[in-house]
Amino acid sequence: MQKIKAALFDLDGVLVDTAKYHYLAWKRLARELGFEFTKEDNEALKGVSRMKSLDILLSVGGLTFDEETKKQLATKKNAWYVEYLEGIDESELLKNVENTLKHLRACGIRTAIGSASKNTPLILKKTGLDQYFDAVVDGNDVSKAKPDPEVFLLGAQRLGCAPKECMVFEDSLAGIQAANTAGMFSIYLGSTDAGSNADMVIRDMTEFHFPFE
Ligand code: BG6
Ligand code: MG
Repeated sequence: MQKIKAALFDLDGVLVDTAKYHYLAWKRLARELGFEFTKEDNEALKGVSRMKSLDILLSVGGLTFDEETKKQLATKKNAWYVEYLEGIDESELLKNVENTLKHLRACGIRTAIGSASKNTPLILKKTGLDQYFDAVVDGNDVSKAKPDPEVFLLGAQRLGCAPKECMVFEDSLAGIQAANTAGMFSIYLGSTDAGSNADMVIRDMTEFHFPFE
């Protein structure tokens, strides 16, 4: 492995426990449209952009709408999601996240966010995480969603590092695929099959140790 100089972090489900709020908002939308949306159904939405998530949700309900209506539905879901976000603080940070960020930065590792979420700035501010990153790349910066590697390649570029010098922390299949395609060292956090192609699998940040040797 090339010497690691940078760490790129997905946000929802890796640093912050916000995946549950995405789920609550999507579930509420499904109810309003007349069908149930389960936790199992929700797995497929992780790491996926807002509009792609809506398409998956509508296919679960067997519904189709024109583009204009879809935009309105996505806006409604996001308004509910942002309502949940308004109440969050640093207590929503996942286990050992702050320690890991402080440790990596003390080791001289450059750090960046690589998230699909357009709500990234709000979440970073609410949780106090914004102080720990040299660069932020989110859903407002990229045109191609994960599994496309754009978000991580742009992150590496903003940190001034080559892809081979980067490690990526992810909790979704799409995110691990994006990291692998970018030529970066991929670290999956979780316990589902989504980690089967990752270079390293850990249950959560308490199992991460650096340097690797
Ligand atoms: C990802 C989440 O981080 O961001 C997805 O895993 C979400 O579930 C995507 O759909 C887009 O988020 P937002 O906040 O822009 O709707
Ligand atoms: Mg995630």
